Amino acid sequence: MIRIGIIIGSTRPGRKGKAVGEWVYEIARKRSDAEFELVDIKDFNLPLLDEPNSPMMGQYTQPHTKIWSAKISSFDAYVFVTPEYNHATSGALKNAIDFLYHEWVNKAAGFVGYGGASGTRAVENLRLIMGELQIADVKAQVGLSLFTDFENFSIFKPAAQQEQSVNTMLDQVIAWGGALKSLRQLSAVY
Ligand SMILES: Cc1cc2nc3c(=O)[nH]c(=O)nc-3n(C[C@H](O)[C@H](O)[C@H](O)COP(=O)(O)O)c2cc1C
Repeated sequence: MIRIGIIIGSTRPGRKGKAVGEWVYEIARKRSDAEFELVDIKDFNLPLLDEPNSPMMGQYTQPHTKIWSAKISSFDAYVFVTPEYNHATSGALKNAIDFLYHEWVNKAAGFVGYGGASGTRAVENLRLIMGELQIADVKAQVGLSLFTDFENFSIFKPAAQQEQSVNTMLDQVIAWGGALKSLRQLSAVY
């Protein structure tokens, strides 16, 4: 069974990302075709990238990088839960991604975006980044709107059909995450 990390991509006080990530996790853990873990980047206290070497070298000097690396290595696939900040993902999530390289390669990913425009541009931004990391990003994505999935733009109350959207995205992540496992075992080509 593959392991999937559900990554909460915002860190600010009062963030909506924690409620969204926990909701995704509660839907995911009802499934029996993969194992899921909620990963809150806030818990890893990553500063702005402070490694002297490119992550492609894998020569980490900082304890926080080694802890983050071990966590991300432990998964076969990811679900990125991303806010939209100025038509992109959050700086915190981009920074957390930038810390590592080989840990991400030949894995699968899906997205849950949220914001005024359902996080669609944040997800498009992440899709560009996925190509460089050799992460296979699935088509199905979840878009949560501040207008229809949050009460008064603040309390998270997802529309009923959103649970099905999560499961459709997870179906694809699990299929690709499993298929890429053999490639990860065979290939050391980056
Ligand atoms: C710095 C900043 C920039 C934002 N830019 C956008 C934007 O470009 N498009 C959008 O739809 N919503 C935008 N929003 C609204 C956020 O997507 C929304 O507040 C969301 O809840 C932020 O996620 P968080 O609560 O987990 O931090 C922005 C919010 C912030 C704080």
